[in-house]
Amino acid sequence: MLHLLPLSILALLPLSTSTPLTKSTPLPLIIWHGLGDNYDADGLHTVGDLAIETNPGTFVYYIRLDENPDSDKTATFLGNLTEQIAQVCADLASHPILSTAPAVNALGFSQGGQFLRGYIERCNYPPVRNLVTFGSQHNGIAKYQACGPTDWLCKSWIGLLKGNTWTQYVQAHLVPAQYFRSTNDTTGEPDADYLEHSNFLADINNERELKNATYAANLAKLDKFAMYVFEDDTTVIPKESAWFAQTNLSSGHVTALRDRAIYKEDWIGLKALDEKGGLDFKTTKGGHMALSDKVLVEVFETYFAPGKAKKASWDGVVDRVQELIEL
Ligand SMILES: *[C@@H]1O[C@H](CO)[C@@H](O)[C@H](O)[C@H]1NC(C)=O
Ligand SMILES: *[C@@H]1O[C@H](CO)[C@@H](O)[C@H](O)[C@H]1NC(C)=O
Ligand SMILES: *[C@@H]1O[C@H](CO)[C@@H](O)[C@H](O)[C@H]1NC(C)=O
Ligand SMILES: *[C@@H]1O[C@H](CO)[C@@H](O)[C@H](O)[C@H]1NC(C)=O
Repeated sequence: MLHLLPLSILALLPLSTSTPLTKSTPLPLIIWHGLGDNYDADGLHTVGDLAIETNPGTFVYYIRLDENPDSDKTATFLGNLTEQIAQVCADLASHPILSTAPAVNALGFSQGGQFLRGYIERCNYPPVRNLVTFGSQHNGIAKYQACGPTDWLCKSWIGLLKGNTWTQYVQAHLVPAQYFRSTNDTTGEPDADYLEHSNFLADINNERELKNATYAANLAKLDKFAMYVFEDDTTVIPKESAWFAQTNLSSGHVTALRDRAIYKEDWIGLKALDEKGGLDFKTTKGGHMALSDKVLVEVFETYFAPGKAKKASWDGVVDRVQELIEL
């Protein structure tokens, strides 16, 4: 009854791989791309191919909000992140392979990094075992980044953002506004407008009075969370956001995560994760998203190789995949 299975599912099964699916098969890898990129882009697939080359047998899934690459790209600027993350949660939970895996590894580029964190905190099914983020805005952005010179769609929307960040319309529609974080430089405290109106970041960072304990529990369950900062990042302002640090824009003084309330009072489980040795602060050379194969291979070997992280084997998946085929 093989014909009952949609073709798209068959195409996803890694049966043609020359590597046998054994107990040391690496966990699947989910990759969430950044602003202005799309799930089908060549550059992104080069990264996925390198992950497979490094850890043969890896099943790679590129997170998308739409099967059409242009629409998926548009969704990096436009949309309500609550709905986008809920959609990704539903997609992964119903995916024929990912939903049968005991866990997955996750790689987030730029804004995709904090969105993966949102996925983990809110849904985490399938659960993420190791999370690696590159140049992500975990503590938000204090300024909007410049769009590419010919990126008119981005330009027109960023224009609308300025001065309107905290309106309901902007918070419901413009993606970067939902991780914009404004603070009072004198006190270092987040602005009341941010706490009240932020549709994404203030919530997933548990900055409001009412904290969601599930968020902290889910993040603390990770084996490893590695956060990469690009040394010369001028796109993300401030770049230290990639380490959850707080930057005083007037003085340039940086308050490290471990000195902040979000950590000391453990609002989202980062302290618990750190205390079990699961939080890695990493730097890499270059500007925003200047990724070399060398750094990527290092990441794949350190965080995503089977047997490296504890329990990182995908026991029984072969049987389940087999069952799917034989349905
Ligand atoms: C906390 O988050 C979980 C997961 O998204 C959700 O099911 C739950 O309703 C939230 N709890 C509160 C008090 O908001
Ligand atoms: C975003 O979507 C959620 C779920 O549909 C909704 O509850 C929320 O009000 C929306 N956000 C804004 C700012 O409208
Ligand atoms: C920042 O906080 C200080 C001290 O509470 C206050 O005097 C000042 O008006 C605030 N600045 C802004 C721009 O709200
Ligand atoms: C930020 O820097 C300014 C200028 O040096 C200083 O006046 C202010 O007190 C600093 N804010 C905090 C919270 O330390």
